[in-house]
Parts: sequence; C-alpha cells; structure tokens
Amino acid sequence: MTFGKTILCIGAGYVGGPTMAMIAAKCPHCRVTVVDINPERIAAWNSDDLPIYEPGLDELVRTTRNRNLFFSTDIERGIRENDIIFVSVNTPTKSFGLGAGMAADLQYWEKTARQILEFSKSSKIVIEKSTLPVKTALAMERILNCRDNGICFDVLSNPEFLAEGTAVRDLEHPDRILIGSRDTDSGLKARQTLVDIYANWVPRQRIITSGIWSSELSKLVSNAFLAQRISSINAISALCEKTEADVTEVSRAIGMDTRIGPKFLNASIGFGGSCFKKDILNLVYLCRYYGLEEVAHYWENVVKINDYQQERFIRNMMGAMFNTLAGKGICLWGFAFKANTGDTRESPAIFIARRLLEERAEVVISDPKALKNARSDLSGVEGRVRYVEDPVAAAEGCHAIALLTEWHLYHELDFQKIFESMAQPAFIFDGRNILDHKRCFDIGFNVYPVGKPPLRHF
Ligand code: NAD
Ligand code: UGA
Repeated sequence: MTFGKTILCIGAGYVGGPTMAMIAAKCPHCRVTVVDINPERIAAWNSDDLPIYEPGLDELVRTTRNRNLFFSTDIERGIRENDIIFVSVNTPTKSFGLGAGMAADLQYWEKTARQILEFSKSSKIVIEKSTLPVKTALAMERILNCRDNGICFDVLSNPEFLAEGTAVRDLEHPDRILIGSRDTDSGLKARQTLVDIYANWVPRQRIITSGIWSSELSKLVSNAFLAQRISSINAISALCEKTEADVTEVSRAIGMDTRIGPKFLNASIGFGGSCFKKDILNLVYLCRYYGLEEVAHYWENVVKINDYQQERFIRNMMGAMFNTLAGKGICLWGFAFKANTGDTRESPAIFIARRLLEERAEVVISDPKALKNARSDLSGVEGRVRYVEDPVAAAEGCHAIALLTEWHLYHELDFQKIFESMAQPAFIFDGRNILDHKRCFDIGFNVYPVGKPPLRHF
C-alpha cells in the first residue's frame, strides 16, 4: 500500500505510543512508525501486553498495529524514511551539575536532534512533542541546520495536553491542538502540513496556531496553572481542618462562579505524575535564569505546598493514631498517582509509603494496576512491605487504611467485612475524599478525610 504521508515518532512512552496510535487510527492514509532506544518497550508495544495501561488503548493499537502503525528499534531507518518527525522523548528534571533539581535534562532530546541530523537524507519537518523550556526550538534549529548540504529542517512546537488515565479520550476529543511555528514561508507551510493531519478528526476551530515560543511556554504555563489550582485548594484544606469548614463545600461554592469553574478543585494528598513538578521547576528555573526572582518564588510555592500537603497527611495519621505508627499495620489503597493508570511516577504514595516505613509501620500496598511499579519504586527501602492486590485481603489485620488513589473499585467494597477483619480501633484516612464517610463511621471506623472535620468514636 502507498501512504500519503510518512510520520515518525521518536520516543515510545506515555505520549509517543498513544498519540501515534490515534494519528494512525484517524489518518489511515498515513504510515506511522514509533521508534525507541528501549528494545523491551518496543517489544511490549508489539505484544498483547502493552507497556502502559490506558482505557481504550489496547483496542486502538489492535486496530492499527501492522496496518499503518509500526513499532521499531531501527531509529536510523525511521529517520531516513520519514518526512515528518515527532520528538517525544523524556525530559526529566536534571539530577546533576548546573540546574540540578530544577532545570530540564535535555540530553535525550539533544541526542535525538543529532541523530536526525546524522541520518537524514532529505528535508524534514521536526515537531517538538516533548515538554521543553522556552527557546529549545532555537537550539534544535541550530543543531539541525548546521550543515550546508541542501537539506532543510522546519521545527514546530506541538505540545501534548493529554492526561494519563484519559489519554485516549483526550487525544480523540482534545480541548485544543496547539501548533507553534516560525513566521516564515517554510515555517507556515510546515505548520499547514501538521494542521492538515489533525484536521482529519479535530474540528478546525480547535486547532490553534501561534509563534513557536508562545507554544513552548503555553505548555509549561498550562501545567503550572493546573497544579496551582490543586495547591490552592490543598492549602485551603489545611485551613478547613483547623476551622471545621468542609473543603468540598468550599470547592463547590467557589467553583460555581463561572470565572473560577468547578474542575481541578479536589483536595487530595497532593498532585503526582511525571510532569507537574518537573514542569513547574523548569518554569521556576527559566524565571531565575531571566532574573525574575519574584516570579520564580511565586511558582515555586506551588510545589512547596504540594510537599507540605503530603507531609501533613502523615502528621494527621500520626496525631490520630496516638503519635506512634511503629509496628502498626497500615494498608495503602492505591499507589498510582491517579486512577486508571499504572503510572507511579512522582506519586504521593511513594513519599507516604517511605515516611510510614521510617516510622516503622508495617505497610501493605494494594493497587489494581500499579503493584509492579510500586515494587520497583520501593526496592531497597528498608522496612516491612507487602503487596496484595485484593484491597479487602490487604486491609485484614491492619490498624488503618490510607486511601491514596481514587480507584472506583474502592466505592464498592464490603466495609462491614473490612472493619471486622481489622485491628481495633480501626482508622480510615481518605486522601481523596471519595468514600461515604458517614457510612464508614456508622460501621465503626474513625474517619479522617482531607479538609473536613474527622468522624471519631473517642
Ligand atoms: P516516557 O519516559 O514514558 O517516554 C519517553 C521515551 O523516549 C522512553 O521510552 C525512552 O526510552 C525514549 N527515548 C529517550 N531517548 C531516546 C532517543 N534518543 N531515541 C529514541 N528514544 C528515546 O515519557 P512520556 O511520559 O511519554 O513523556 C515524554 C514527553 O512528553 C516529556 O517531555 C513529557 O513532559 C511530555 N508529556 C508527557 C505527558 C504524560 O502524560 N506522560 C503528557 C504531556 C506531555
Ligand atoms: C497533567 C495535565 O492534566 C495534562 O494536561 C498534561 O498534558 C500532563 O499533566 C503532562 O504534561 O504530563 P496528568 O499528570 O496525567 O496530566 O494527570 P492530572 O489529571 O492532571 O492529575 C495530576 C495529579 O493531580 C494527580 O496526582 C491527580 O490525582 C491530582 N489532582 C488532580 C488532584 O489532586 N486534585 C484535582 O482536583 C485534580
């Protein structure tokens, strides 16, 4: 079969895999290849056991794979044979040298740029899909256009806004697609090529274009604003706990103001995930780089409040359980950073589990999708940890349950049976405010939600 457009994506992770599967599904006339340096990841994409869990992803991959979607480790061939290249490699926080702990680590991204330069035999459009500091496209252009051999590269910024757990839905019905380009003839032509790809399924008014630096910055700012809302409501949850106000009632009251809106106002144990923290720190680093100390400080506090919220959760547990957790069984319901994903990157559960182990608690971890990652996150950590998939069995004999991920299955359990199987007095710390607190209290639990008065039997 002859394909109209040939597309490559470098990086077969949480973004590269699902995004390319959606493009392949919606553009049957395009051939889409996804490459990665990690052969195990590629083998998993080519198997029935995909490397990531996302509702709807298995079916999407099953219908497109080996039709017009291909997964491969042959990066050189991929670059040679494709005209449109998405770069979706990881851009973690730098852990060494200048900017350690703040700046983005651009080594994977730069290696990719050099590979594109080395293996290209024709002109190409290169699209930044990874989240990057502002002006990274300039560096990409400089690397790519350093040879005077008639091969030209147009660099576009096309940040991804999908959220894990809803990736397939977000990709199929995005709020917007953002494409940043240079305002030159060839930049605008490249931009149009990408607009045409998305226009196969995204309404034209939802595809917005901008300058390339605005596009790069919008991605960081979007994550910073989302995280800021969570830190704002979490900060208020601390005040609610002191004043007997109820944070859910406050969220509802403020969220009905259409200028504020109701979303992303759920108080919790804090935000996790691979991106919010790293992208805010990246923004903070950029502000400092440009001498904007006050602006840097403002955004840095979003991360500080998030750390504070996690530590507060542990302190509340300690306070409620007579100031000692040593030798007590604590069952964690949920380890993923949010529901409907097996991803545990930056999950608050990692911090909470470590802190509980420091306090010499005996931790039992339960999660329907994330136990494999949980084991690896806690490998080498001292202390007594068990992993039990069934949440009811996991809670047996424990003194407390800490609900850390809002998996729907936790609504449907037999709480009477769970209560009777636990050490008394039994506690529930609902880090997501999803349980029926009154019902749990009536059964006999001492219930500690986030940002609401506790329901205690003593
Ligand atoms: P990931 O770690 O899951 O995947 C990145 C992949 O790139 C890995 O499989 C890695 O092996 C591969 N890779 C690294 N260097 C390579 C190279 N030189 N050649 C080929 N492959 C290489 O990361 P992710 O979660 O998919 O995130 C990718 C980017 O997208 C990041 O910048 C992230 O900030 C951004 N982003 C992520 C999400 C999300 O929900 N995870 C959402 C929006 C944006
Ligand atoms: C987030 C953004 O929502 C995406 O738009 C963005 O593309 C992505 O980051 C990225 O750049 O990686 P994601 O981290 O997958 O997506 O998931 P979110 O739904 O944003 O949740 C992030 C964290 O905030 C989770 O730990 C979640 O439990 C927590 N959260 C969310 C709250 O504590 N309260 C809320 O009200 C909402």
